[in-house]
Amino acid sequence: MFNGQRLRQWLSGLPGHRVCSMKWQSLLRYAAITFAVTLTLSGVFLFRRPEGFLSGTTSHYFEYFWNRTETHPIEHLVSEAHLFHENLLKEQSFDVPAAAARYRARRGRHPPPGFDAWLAYAVEHDAIVVESYFDRIYADLAPFWGLDPQTIAERAASWEHVVQVRNGTVNPKGSTENRVPWLQLWSGLVAEAAPFLPDVDMPINYMDESRLAASWEDITSYVEIEQASRTVKPVEEVVTAFSGLDKVDARGTDTEPYQPEWLHSNYWDLMRVGCAPDSASRNATPMVNFTGPAEFPQDWSPNYAYDGFVRNFTASSDPCSQPHLRGMHGTFVEPLTLSTSKELIPLFSGCKLPMNNDILIPGAMYLTDDVMYSGGDTHGPAWRQKVDGTVWRGVASGGRHHAENWSHFQRLRLVEMLNSTTVSAVEASGSRAMTFEMPSAKLYDFPRRREGTIGKWLKKFSNVGVTMLLCHPAESECDYLLPHISGVEGVPMKEQYKYKFMPDVDGNSFSARFRGFLLSTSLPIKSTIYAEWHDDRLVPWLHFVPMDNTFQDLYAILDYFSYDKKGDRAAQFIAGEGSAWGNKVLRREDMLLYVWRLLLEFARVCDEKRELLGYVDDL
Ligand SMILES: *[C@@H]1O[C@H](CO)[C@@H](O)[C@H](O)[C@H]1NC(C)=O
Ligand SMILES: *[C@@H]1O[C@H](CO)[C@@H](O)[C@H](O)[C@H]1NC(C)=O
Ligand SMILES: *[C@@H]1O[C@H](CO)[C@@H](O)[C@H](O)[C@H]1NC(C)=O
Ligand SMILES: *[C@@H]1O[C@H](CO)[C@@H](O)[C@H](O)[C@H]1NC(C)=O
Ligand SMILES: *[C@@H]1O[C@H](CO)[C@@H](O)[C@H](O)[C@H]1NC(C)=O
Ligand SMILES: *[C@@H]1O[C@H](CO)[C@@H](O)[C@H](O)[C@H]1NC(C)=O
Repeated sequence: MFNGQRLRQWLSGLPGHRVCSMKWQSLLRYAAITFAVTLTLSGVFLFRRPEGFLSGTTSHYFEYFWNRTETHPIEHLVSEAHLFHENLLKEQSFDVPAAAARYRARRGRHPPPGFDAWLAYAVEHDAIVVESYFDRIYADLAPFWGLDPQTIAERAASWEHVVQVRNGTVNPKGSTENRVPWLQLWSGLVAEAAPFLPDVDMPINYMDESRLAASWEDITSYVEIEQASRTVKPVEEVVTAFSGLDKVDARGTDTEPYQPEWLHSNYWDLMRVGCAPDSASRNATPMVNFTGPAEFPQDWSPNYAYDGFVRNFTASSDPCSQPHLRGMHGTFVEPLTLSTSKELIPLFSGCKLPMNNDILIPGAMYLTDDVMYSGGDTHGPAWRQKVDGTVWRGVASGGRHHAENWSHFQRLRLVEMLNSTTVSAVEASGSRAMTFEMPSAKLYDFPRRREGTIGKWLKKFSNVGVTMLLCHPAESECDYLLPHISGVEGVPMKEQYKYKFMPDVDGNSFSARFRGFLLSTSLPIKSTIYAEWHDDRLVPWLHFVPMDNTFQDLYAILDYFSYDKKGDRAAQFIAGEGSAWGNKVLRREDMLLYVWRLLLEFARVCDEKRELLGYVDDL
């Protein structure tokens, strides 16, 4: 469970926070915390003086320190995150009747047949069952209620790579010669639940990138069909057993996979049709000239941020409201592989953009013991023994960069922004770098920014670089990149965990390290445009630090958490919460439960009697 005591310990070093839309119970508690904290702080203020407090720059530091006690926006966000999480956990279910009732209340249907065995496994394995942790499943599957069940079942069965469940056992279907072992990894996971699963086919995407992008209009009309069909049927009408896949299997095993038309045109154009007609990106045409430096949006103040820091991480990850991302993320500049369908077909992927229609499952990399992604069993030394600094290593992926467009790739931006030589030069000259502009000094007003010493600070603080430059074409010998970025030696993941701060940005798709970072005892600082299975169970600012996809908040985040003891304690707190929570909700058992629930639902949506199917033994 959530460690309230640790939070209180930490909060005792914090002032209160401003509150929006909060219940009065919370307000009372908030008032109590504020009172306690004010007392504590006056003590701190009298007895623990900040560096330089009595030296020549006294008034400056005094003022800054004083200003800092006036609630930094990050402190507000952390408190808010904690309350959100605590309230959500009140909805935890421990038995079938409670879980089924919450299911019906949230989904407007009976749970699928097999729900009781699912819950029994969850309880037996101490899984945290909160209905909203599974929202993603329902968002992903809703449009399929708009398609004919038999058609979905046939397309799923005939796909090139399928995790096939028949008679309670799993058969991986498809050739994996010379390919990553994803089919085996996913099959291994599903096999653990197979005795409790109906016959079902899970067609899997073997590419890094997600594949489906139907138009917003198509998806909306499918979802309307789902909504119209949503009822909690009277018990006597409910069918409690799946129909099975005999009809599909009767077609024989050598049916050709159904191939929709695969498109390879401009990716931004393909994606923006998935955005709502009134969203900023829907009518934003692709950029044509990527030669110049990456351009930041003017007067950036998105409604998902609070004083310059991400408040709604879902919204900050959504390119539909941020047309500038078409020039700031490799996915939209030049993705490595590109093959997209506008037709909705059943296909399961490890990640997707918010406008994609793939069905999410945990990335196969999360199922390996590969130390490249996880760092193995070592999670780094205790916080106090960690290096006060930030580390990042990775290849320069995120798409195929060229002389004409490299400055628009997110990984290269991260590396330039944390390069002390580059930043010092920018600070000295007042000019800008190719990949980034200095963040607004008005929005992010802190001494290092004001004094132009970020570069100097990074010299000690930052250990960041790319291990493979991946320039295109190879004959260029990277002449376009080398003046700005050079390759560095790799650092094994377990060595990286010796640093306090770990930024995590997208590669060709999601980075696949986030779970490892969370389970480590360092602090993950995460930005992404990709959605993953676990998004609903992690709370930004409580389990990790969210960062904007422009990285405009990067320096202010690092500065806050490393400037003084208070920041350090906040960082340690979030790192500890993230790791403890990850060990409760991101275990293999949790991934199994997610996929198990998903397959019960997918089997239902493929069933001709789907409107009637349900679990009602508790009624
Ligand atoms: C403290 O806040 C005041 C008022 O907002 C501002 O004028 C001053 O520059 C701040 N000082 C520092 C050192 O941040
Ligand atoms: C599953 O079992 C049924 C009856 O026990 C049998 O007819 C069918 O062939 C089996 N299917 C597979 C794929 O093993
Ligand atoms: C592209 O932009 C750069 C500067 O940003 C400019 O020098 C160049 O002429 C532009 N190219 C075209 C084809 O418009
Ligand atoms: C966060 O943003 C998403 C997507 O833009 C929106 O659906 C959701 O309601 C927002 N959440 C909150 C708490 O405002
Ligand atoms: C990036 O640059 C390469 C080389 O000039 C070009 O082929 C590619 O189309 C560019 N990407 C975009 C999206 O302009
Ligand atoms: C840091 O930037 C300088 C130029 O500003 C560049 O020469 C150097 O290679 C960069 N270092 C890394 C590790 O990319």
